[in-house]
Amino acid sequence: LKHLLTIEGLGPTWITRILDTAENFMSVSDREIKKVPLLRGRTVVNLFFESSTRTRTTFELAAKRLSADVLNINLSTSATTKGESLLDTLRNIEAMQADMFVVRHEQSGAAHFIARHVAPHVSVLNAGDGWHAHPTQALLDAFTIRRIKGDFAPLRIAIVGDVKHSRVARSQIHAFNSLNVGELRVIGPRTLIPNDIEPLGVRVFHDMRQGLKDVDVIIMLRLQRERMEGGLLPTEQEFYRLYGLTEEKLGWAKPDAIVMHPGPANRGVEIESRVADGPQSVILEQVSNGIGVRMAVMALCMSAES
Ligand code: CP
Repeated sequence: LKHLLTIEGLGPTWITRILDTAENFMSVSDREIKKVPLLRGRTVVNLFFESSTRTRTTFELAAKRLSADVLNINLSTSATTKGESLLDTLRNIEAMQADMFVVRHEQSGAAHFIARHVAPHVSVLNAGDGWHAHPTQALLDAFTIRRIKGDFAPLRIAIVGDVKHSRVARSQIHAFNSLNVGELRVIGPRTLIPNDIEPLGVRVFHDMRQGLKDVDVIIMLRLQRERMEGGLLPTEQEFYRLYGLTEEKLGWAKPDAIVMHPGPANRGVEIESRVADGPQSVILEQVSNGIGVRMAVMALCMSAES
C-alpha cells in the first residue's frame, strides 16, 4: 500500500488487513492506545485546504502515537495566499524531508493530483476530496461496525440523508460492498439521492419507515449545503420532519440498531439530541476508532513489505 486515495481497488483483503492492524493498535485499551516506534524518524505533513475537526486531529494523534514528527501546515497563513502554486508548496515541504502528506481539499481529485506529483518515497493519504472520497472515514466506520456487530454478512445497513453530496457515503458504499454486507440501503428525498446509485448494489428508499425496517446500522449524514447548487432541496424543517432521526423513527429499526454519524452533526436537522446522545449512539466511538484506523493506514503505507 503506497497511497490511500479511494476505497475502490483496495479489495476485501486490504480492507480486512487495515481493520485487523487497527485492532492490534487498539487492543490494549481504547482509551489508552500505546505509543509505538514504527514511524520514528518519519515526517507526516497535514495539508488541510478545507476545515476539519475529527479527521485532522485524529490523523495528528495517530502519527504521534506512531512516533512520527508531525507538521500541521496552516494554509490560511501559508505562502499559497501570496500566489504560490500548490505544486511549489508541495516541492518546498518535500524538501523538508516529508514522508507522508495527509490531504483534505474541496476539489475532487486533489489527493490523486498530489500523489501523481510527489517524490517516489512520499505517501499520500486522502483525508476527503470534494464530493469524491473519504476513505479513512469509511474504514473507521467499518471498524466500528465490526467491533460491535461482528460479521458483516447478516447486517442490513442504511445510510440516510444527503447521499448525493457525500464523499463519506460514496466511500462507505464501496467499503461495505467489498466486505459483503448483507444489505445496503440509502434513504432520502429524490433530490439528495444520486440517480445512478442502484447499480452500486444499493436499495433506494424515499420513505424512512420502510427504509429503517429491520435495519441493524443507521448512518446519518449532514445536509452538505456547501456543495449544493440550487434545485428543489428540502428546508431543514422539512428534512427533519421526514428524515431526521428522532427517538420515534429509531423505533422503526431493530431494537439493537446502532446509530452512527461521521460528524459534524447538526442536531435538530438530521438527528435529535436524545438520539445523538442516547444509548444506541456510537458517534463518539467512531471518533476514538479513527485514531487506531489512521495509525493502521499510516503504518501499512510506510511499511517496506506492503
Ligand atoms: N468526519 C469528518 O470528516 O469530520 P471533520 O470534517 O471534522 O474532519
